[in-house]
Amino acid sequence: MTSLTKDQTPAKPGGPVLEARDLRVWYGTDRGPVRAVDGVSFDLRPGEILGLVGESGCGKSTLGRGLLGLLPEGAARDGELRFQGRDMLSLRRKEQYRMRGSELGMIFQEPLTRLNPMMRISDHFAETLRAHERRISKADVEQRSLEALRVMGIPPTRFRAYPHEFSGGMRQRIMIALALVLRPAFVVADEPTTALDVLVEAQIIRILHNLRATYDTSMLLITHNLGIVAEACDRVAVMYAGKIVEIGPAREVFSRPQHSYTRELLRSTISLSTTGLNFIDGAPPDLTDPPSGCHFHPRCPDAMQICATTEPAPRDLPGGIRAACWAAEVAHGRQLDEDARRPLPREAISVADEA
Ligand SMILES: Nc1ncnc2c1ncn2[C@@H]1O[C@H](COP(=O)(O)OP(=O)(O)OP(=O)(O)O)[C@@H](O)[C@H]1O
Ligand code: SF4
Ligand SMILES: [Mg+2]
Repeated sequence: MTSLTKDQTPAKPGGPVLEARDLRVWYGTDRGPVRAVDGVSFDLRPGEILGLVGESGCGKSTLGRGLLGLLPEGAARDGELRFQGRDMLSLRRKEQYRMRGSELGMIFQEPLTRLNPMMRISDHFAETLRAHERRISKADVEQRSLEALRVMGIPPTRFRAYPHEFSGGMRQRIMIALALVLRPAFVVADEPTTALDVLVEAQIIRILHNLRATYDTSMLLITHNLGIVAEACDRVAVMYAGKIVEIGPAREVFSRPQHSYTRELLRSTISLSTTGLNFIDGAPPDLTDPPSGCHFHPRCPDAMQICATTEPAPRDLPGGIRAACWAAEVAHGRQLDEDARRPLPREAISVADEA
């Protein structure tokens, strides 16, 4: 479907909704810049759900917020970012603000703090819709709201209820419905399921499938739950220390991960039967001063000499996967000289880890 932007500039038919090229986001701090997003490139197609996974502190939320221009004071962006062909980094704050909600959406984690306890659900919808479409009729408000609630599995009989009359899971779905009622072309959902129990997660997966069938919304779904990614996402991006180290079709990445970090991440999750992801030896690096070469080398069981000195470039690999890993390159026939291929001694690994 060809969508029209608010200024009636047609987006390229069949082209990506979002294009990031060498995108960087950093926070200015007393210790120097925290490079939370450090040269990220990817495209998102219309209606596509891209899962974003990685350990705590790797920059997932910063990337999500950076894509929407929702960064705190003192943060800065650089590189290229296009939304429906428009250069987002050259937009003024006011123009970005105008696009929020109607074209770019964000689904937050804590629904209770975002829903006004004094307002009925119907009033939340009316307020949201009128803020962006001033002339919308009462009948249209109701029809659009009920449709969004239906997609989220909330019956129309609850339309006039108050937030406290719903369970936590239902409130979360209402928040998602409020983001979707404006039919944004792109939504960031930052851990929308963390506060919910496992049963509700199964519903969320079904809902994400319905969502694609009803709206043409593209989504960046940030989650620690790899099960949701495997079930509900078209592709998955794995982030480590500010970089997307592997991206590809979810099925392929889960069954044949190419990057050593992805493999360790999957292994730690599966072996410990947990949704937490912090079980690889060591911890992600300080992003004011990340390790040289591949940022994962101090923790990587496959690290070679070259990994400590030279950053691997992203390469297209089998299965539609793009990954930046020397070991993956060697596995696919890349010739490295003997010194470069020598395993990094464990001492070097632990010294680098402590540095
Ligand atoms: N406002 C801020 N000022 C300075 N540094 C920040 C700020 N927000 C985040 N950071 C730092 O940026 C890095 C990335 O943080 P971010 O919240 O994006 O990670 P994350 O992958 O979303 O982690 P989690 O899984 O815990 O949500 C971290 O090192 C974090 O400490
Ligand atoms: S580039 Fe080297 S250190 Fe980095 S993940 Fe691949 S093998 Fe491990
Ligand atoms: Mg986060």
